[in-house]
Amino acid sequence: MKGSFEVRSVEETWELARRLAADLLPGAVVCLDGDLGAGKTTFVQGLAAALGVRGRVTSPTLCLVQGHGSADGRLLVHRDLYRLASEDDVLAIGWEDYLSRGAILAVEWPERAGSLIPADATRVSFARLDDEESRRITVS
Ligand SMILES: Nc1ncnc2c1ncn2[C@@H]1O[C@H](COP(=O)(O)OP(=O)(O)OP(=O)(O)O)[C@@H](O)[C@H]1O
Ligand SMILES: [Mg+2]
Repeated sequence: MKGSFEVRSVEETWELARRLAADLLPGAVVCLDGDLGAGKTTFVQGLAAALGVRGRVTSPTLCLVQGHGSADGRLLVHRDLYRLASEDDVLAIGWEDYLSRGAILAVEWPERAGSLIPADATRVSFARLDDEESRRITVS
């Protein structure tokens, strides 16, 4: 799923995430770009719901990585790299481990990971619009 979409609520953001989730194969990397509060974590909640993940998806800023087993055995790994400074830091928290296990990786602040991000990663960018609950979400 590619394109630029205007959503007007958290529910519409989740719905878009559900549509993207249908395309994601094991080992997929989804990079989430956008300012603080733009909706990146909210989108990951939608991915998790679509994958049938048990448990709550919260911002992993403090623990840096959260793994979620899904109903069909897929693993969704959510990373927030905001507090990291370099690719070395990203490697130090086990970047390769989950990818080699076929997890789907959802990454906030992916620029911290530099060249570790595969060229075929899906990019999802978030921009606020005038209305408080509206966002432009671009999938490429
Ligand atoms: N259409 C929308 N899509 C996503 N979030 C929305 C929307 N409308 C309002 N919100 C609100 O905006 C906030 C988005 O927060 P979220 O934690 O998802 O942002 P984030 O991009 O992950 O920020 P951070 O960089 O701090 O991790 C939430 O409080 C959410 O309820
Ligand atoms: Mg977040």
